[in-house]
Amino acid sequence: MTERQPLIQGAFVTFRVHVNPDKCQGHNRCYSVSPELFDLDELGMSNEVGEGLVPANLVGAARLAVANCPEHAISLIQAEGES
Ligand code: F3S
Repeated sequence: MTERQPLIQGAFVTFRVHVNPDKCQGHNRCYSVSPELFDLDELGMSNEVGEGLVPANLVGAARLAVANCPEHAISLIQAEGES
């Protein structure tokens, strides 16, 4: 499975999601949008699955999770790029 999304011809970009544990209040919208990218602890607080790598087919869901977190706890980070 690839974690890279074609950006322009010959170039790729890798995204990671990260949940800031100091901001998360357990609204769980991220998990509702994309359970593949987020996991909940026993108190309902979210954290990214694994290292937070976002498969190309889930970049849209990751952006939706960022936009729908009322605490602005989720960041979508362009991890690396190469041509
Ligand atoms: Fe936390 Fe925001 Fe998700 S508050 S549980 S990161 S929607």
